[in-house]
Amino acid sequence: MDSNTRAFLKQLRQYGFEHDIPNVTDEVGQFLNMMIRMKKSKTILEIGCANGYSTIWMAEAARQVGAQLHTVDHSAPTFSEAQDNLKSVGLSGLVDFHFGDAREVIPAFPADLKFDFVFVDGQKASYLDFWNTVKDRLLPGAVLVFDDMLAFQEKTRSFSEAIQDLDGFSKLILPIDPEDGILLMLNES
Ligand SMILES: C[S@@+](CC[C@H](N)C(=O)[O-])C[C@H]1O[C@@H](n2cnc3c(N)ncnc32)[C@H](O)[C@@H]1O
Repeated sequence: MDSNTRAFLKQLRQYGFEHDIPNVTDEVGQFLNMMIRMKKSKTILEIGCANGYSTIWMAEAARQVGAQLHTVDHSAPTFSEAQDNLKSVGLSGLVDFHFGDAREVIPAFPADLKFDFVFVDGQKASYLDFWNTVKDRLLPGAVLVFDDMLAFQEKTRSFSEAIQDLDGFSKLILPIDPEDGILLMLNES
């Protein structure tokens, strides 16, 4: 990552603290960036970009491995901030921004648009809906990351229960920072 992008991310993180934007932690950003590079992903989906902090972490990795990222959000003010922020670091060409509720937007994607990396960070109580929306759009070997699975166990419970005995996926909760954890899923097909 170049020093300009790193400095911009640092600024954006500070802005998030000051304006109560629930950006991912640095650890999650770093994890997403490294996973995309290690996996050499080609098509990435994000649910919930807010003002684009996590999107920049992923788009920067996408630049290195030649991937394209699709992100979906339904909150107007931060959505346009995300577009501006990606432009500021020269990464907007790697991101297709989709405005609207992910549960309506994703089913309307072209039928052949499938993903090898999915990051879910929308409303926690909708994780089960998001899972039902993306599960038929996964390429073999796809990796999924669900944020906030330890901090919001109650809100994500219906999703956790639905995937408890799911066949065909490896699952692991990673307590990635002192207060929270992410769920990592691997499509074994
Ligand atoms: C925790 S914030 C995302 C933070 C972002 N990933 C980051 O690190 O900067 C959650 C975002 O998900 C969006 N969101 C929640 N439910 C959604 C839905 N059903 N469809 C689309 N976006 C949704 C919200 O508008 C909000 O911007």
